[in-house]
Amino acid sequence: MSDKIGIVLLAAGEGKRLKLSVPKPLAPLNNKKLIDYPLKAAEKFTKENSLESKVAVVVGHKREMVISHLENKGIEFPVQEQQLGTADALRSYFNNTSFSKDCSLTLVLCADTPLLNDEVLSCLYKELKENQLDGVAATFKENNPYGYGRIVRGDKGFNIVEEKDATDELRSIQEVNSGLYLFKTDYILSALEGVDSDNKAGEFYLTDVFQKEANVKAFCFENKDLFLGVNTLVQLEQARKILNKNKVNNLLNNGVIVIDPDTVYVDDEVEVAAEVTLYPNTFLMGKTTIATKTVVEPGCIVKNSTIGEGVSLKAYSHLENVIVEKNCAVGPYARLRPGTELGEKTKIGNFVETKNSKLDKGVAVSHLSYVGDAEIGEETNIGCGFITCNYDGEQKHKTIIGKRSFIGSDTQTIAPIKIGDNSFIGSGSTVSRDVPDKAFSIARGRQEIKENLAHRFLRGKWKVDK
Ligand code: UD1
Ligand code: CA
Repeated sequence: MSDKIGIVLLAAGEGKRLKLSVPKPLAPLNNKKLIDYPLKAAEKFTKENSLESKVAVVVGHKREMVISHLENKGIEFPVQEQQLGTADALRSYFNNTSFSKDCSLTLVLCADTPLLNDEVLSCLYKELKENQLDGVAATFKENNPYGYGRIVRGDKGFNIVEEKDATDELRSIQEVNSGLYLFKTDYILSALEGVDSDNKAGEFYLTDVFQKEANVKAFCFENKDLFLGVNTLVQLEQARKILNKNKVNNLLNNGVIVIDPDTVYVDDEVEVAAEVTLYPNTFLMGKTTIATKTVVEPGCIVKNSTIGEGVSLKAYSHLENVIVEKNCAVGPYARLRPGTELGEKTKIGNFVETKNSKLDKGVAVSHLSYVGDAEIGEETNIGCGFITCNYDGEQKHKTIIGKRSFIGSDTQTIAPIKIGDNSFIGSGSTVSRDVPDKAFSIARGRQEIKENLAHRFLRGKWKVDK
């Protein structure tokens, strides 16, 4: 039978040093919150090892905010009223959850270690099972170990001495405690009973459950980055940088051409196919996917969007919640707002804004236009400076334009309006009535020419004789 594992994240602390109005677990990191990262690592770990699991987050400071961020995920939220230390936090977990004592194993994580991954957790699990240990702590070596609990190894087990309580000799130990532990639940429950607050900080230290005589092991990991703890915004930024570097390296290793990778920002869930090219200063955010052979030129921001194959996203374009099918060209300087859908080979040129609009295959809107709440049929060409007047001050209305029509430059269509297939709108028109298929429509003042009258209007250096 596989183990049932209780996973607990300690997240009751205030995180004062971050100087944010949100509690530390909710510090923003890329498109997510700090606590989402260890939660995701734990989820992946239980899946990979086919473990039955339940999750709890020990909350205290600003707990409503933490709970509201994580609710409806089956997570329980034991409350630690006063932050009396990490052992006290774990006691709150055992006393205030429905499942914790029924799990054979207990995994303890901190909310503030975003670089932790499932492999580390699998490693600890393997170590505990293979050596039939009661507990295992993840440790690492730090040249400047200040602030961390130091690992003091014995013949069998080890113990942990906190910075405040350490002698100068112990302070020179470079192996430190990461704050990540896996226990047999029976063991941790009884060990917790023996923890007191008889130390310099007057706190109940969870680290006191490790003893030199106990059947416990400190497992030292090579890569200390994995345990980077976020206490300050400087550390938050360090974490973000490492996350981004890992992501971009992963893309490079999978055939994505990334030019000047230090300046390319790619969120965790973004998927980029091989042979895509990402130029400097591009931001790919949220749930974005980009298909093969697409080129993303400098300065583009793409958020929660699906981009097809062979698309050219030209410099400084901004896309959010949009679908762009294959072989489209967008930009430079285009803004595709939520609800935009471009059929294949559509062309959106510079200074064009679209919103909530569906443009079929081969449509071209090449210059200086606003297309909102519209449907445009295939192969229709929209001239320069076109505007859908979609808003009457109260409501938005729809503009429907058929296939293979030609809309002259500087046209405004006043919605709701329908323009048919194969129609032609003369440039400079303000179109307020529907135009049927194959019709020509023009709506502008007739041109007058008065010979030799310009002198009446020209002033200053433009002045001329009659
Ligand atoms: C802890 C460890 C230290 C380790 C370090 C790694 C102890 C006594 N020390 O120290 O050995 O090197 O982590 O980062 O455990 N928390 C609560 N309730 C509390 C206190 C803390 O929920 O009463 C939570 C915090 O929100 C945080 C985590 O526990 O997520 C760790 O607490 P923190 O105060 O940061 O511990 P450190 O002093 O860093
Ligand atoms: Ca800490």
